[in-house]
Amino acid sequence: MKLNIDNLLAVNNKHGLRQKDINAQGSNIEKFLNQIDDRNQGFYSFIDEKEFIEKIEAYSREIKNKFKDIIVLGIGGSALGTISLKQSLTHLFENELINRKHPKLHVLDNISPDLIKAIEDIIDFKKTLFIVVSKSGNTPEILAQYFYFLNKIKKRKLNPQKHFVFITDPKKGHLRKIANSENIKAFVVPENVGGRFSVLSAVGLLPAKLIGVDIKKLINGAKIMRDRFRSLDVLKNLSFQIATIQYLLSKKGKTIQVMMPYSQHLIRFSDWYRQLLSESIGKAKNNKGENVNIGLTPVNAIGVTDQHSQLQLYNEGPNDKFFMFISVNKFRTNVKIPNLYPNNKDVAFLKGVSFNKLFQTEMKATAKSLSRNNRPNIFIEIEEVDEVSLGQLFMLFECSVAFLGEFYNINAFDQPGVELSKLLTKEYLINGYK
Ligand code: PA5
Repeated sequence: MKLNIDNLLAVNNKHGLRQKDINAQGSNIEKFLNQIDDRNQGFYSFIDEKEFIEKIEAYSREIKNKFKDIIVLGIGGSALGTISLKQSLTHLFENELINRKHPKLHVLDNISPDLIKAIEDIIDFKKTLFIVVSKSGNTPEILAQYFYFLNKIKKRKLNPQKHFVFITDPKKGHLRKIANSENIKAFVVPENVGGRFSVLSAVGLLPAKLIGVDIKKLINGAKIMRDRFRSLDVLKNLSFQIATIQYLLSKKGKTIQVMMPYSQHLIRFSDWYRQLLSESIGKAKNNKGENVNIGLTPVNAIGVTDQHSQLQLYNEGPNDKFFMFISVNKFRTNVKIPNLYPNNKDVAFLKGVSFNKLFQTEMKATAKSLSRNNRPNIFIEIEEVDEVSLGQLFMLFECSVAFLGEFYNINAFDQPGVELSKLLTKEYLINGYK
């Protein structure tokens, strides 16, 4: 994986950065790493444990060929990583494939009544496994979904112990209590790993394994990036470079962060990142308790689709955005564009061109158009979308967000801003809406 910041350096100084600005921040790495360590977060260390992978693999062997559908009941950090893993590492029409090796995976990350009901029309409960994912074990949406589908399973006289598996905190929460009292198999989200940092735990790995993903390679990729995160050399430490660029550019008014992957497999990765950045960096108070109202606003764009939707705004609207392109060197296929009009000069530019080349060229042209308009942008280049590079990407952004928290002197690991809505929901359910 490489970071290419040429287009950022090409932007004028009012809107861009110079290499020396980035390098000068390198002296902060050690201090920031110590501060991150002091926060006792496990997202970069639990990946060294082997046992959780062995447990997932053993369970996957145990239930092989028993289910046709797997439904993940989870929301936020308990769902978005899994959605991204499926989109990135399986067939783009995985659930529609006729000849299948693995069960179909569905992630029910909402409680819209129509969604809850609609899923019933496409599954056979006898052949369905429900994976109930909640770090806290207390999230009302997930408990409601669990109660609903448990009732359906019981009404059909099926055994809940066979049709449910939980992924939750090792000790706390309602789900853990239910797992203990009703003897439901339950995997662990490590105590010191928060929801949006949990994709590489059983939260993402169990569903991924069940649809054929090589989870050991994912973890290997994550370790490669974690080791770079510990490096004090700014040029090796990609997550530090990204955080530095985001922080310094935000001081120049670029508080909107556009992530634009050029790979259909990565379009859901930006959804995962959107939560990570929003919940981690959007904070009212700094570490001293002072009001700061810090935040970076993530925006998702998809190459090339959004060239025809958002690019006009990006090139000519307010210069308040920073663009991160994720580019892929090698696709799984090479698709040629047939030369059906050899004598038509108007379309000659497509002669001998493949979709691969057209796609990549449009990406370069889009990025260049932005830098010519003094819109700062960088490329995160990966060789191909596979387990190793995806493991690296997840860890890259988890670590960069951790560094960003230290730049802004805020706690990137809590989310007090979502509590009020939860409290009010409970209050309205009990006392009615006022
Ligand atoms: O990052 C977080 O902690 C949250 O966004 C959670 O992922 C989300 O609220 C779901 O929580 P839980 O996994 O506890 O059900």
